[in-house]
Amino acid sequence: MSRKPFIAGNWKMNMTAESGTQLIKELIPLVKDANCDVCLCVPAILIPAMTKASAGTNIHIGAENVHWANSGAYTGEISADMLKEYGVKYVIIGHSERRQYFGETDETVNKRTLTALNAGLTPIVCVGELLEERESGKTNEVLDRQLKDGLNGIDDVTKIVIAYEPVWAIGTGRTATDEQAQKTIAYIRKKIGELFCPKCAEKIVIQYGGSMNAGNCKGLMAQPDIDGGLIGGASLKLDFAKIVNFDK
Ligand code: 13P
Repeated sequence: MSRKPFIAGNWKMNMTAESGTQLIKELIPLVKDANCDVCLCVPAILIPAMTKASAGTNIHIGAENVHWANSGAYTGEISADMLKEYGVKYVIIGHSERRQYFGETDETVNKRTLTALNAGLTPIVCVGELLEERESGKTNEVLDRQLKDGLNGIDDVTKIVIAYEPVWAIGTGRTATDEQAQKTIAYIRKKIGELFCPKCAEKIVIQYGGSMNAGNCKGLMAQPDIDGGLIGGASLKLDFAKIVNFDK
């Protein structure tokens, strides 16, 4: 199996051009020998400054959302071409905060994902269940729907990254246990095999996200189906470098 680990940060609505540039400057020497792909997904307005700060290093800059249209009357939205102009490679799609606060649905996730792929961006598609869904035994049912509808019509599913982010673990300090995360991500991989092809399931990179930090990353990354992390809070500080260097 040759899946390269992938550690990505999600700054959410945090940092400024000044503090972000400073953090990237300090991260560069700490992550330069990473054995994984490294990315920081940042607020759209910070993309030019963060691209400049990370130029010539192994830190990729990603976006936190992308619209499905190429251009047009969509006030406040950002197109794939606009992201590409700044060398953006990755884009988070369908984060639970977008689903919860901004009306994101599996259908809009699907439209954004297809557009991002068409433009040559790598979507990081987020899936995950709410606490009440887990507690009522509905986790797999929710994931089935998010994967089937969100990834509908994709030609080569191995061109996307999936981030499994149980909503109850995001920003709560309550990480899924290694076993819970492994079991659910193995289920997602199996489902990708059914919806697409067994080879795709073996190849696709699947991250875990939700209170992942310098202390728990090693255990999570040691699980056979967990290929990486999508890191919120801990990506706003130098701890991010410790996660990137989980194997050292
Ligand atoms: P935290 O790491 O802050 O829990 O956030 C996870 C997340 O939502 C990453 O997208």
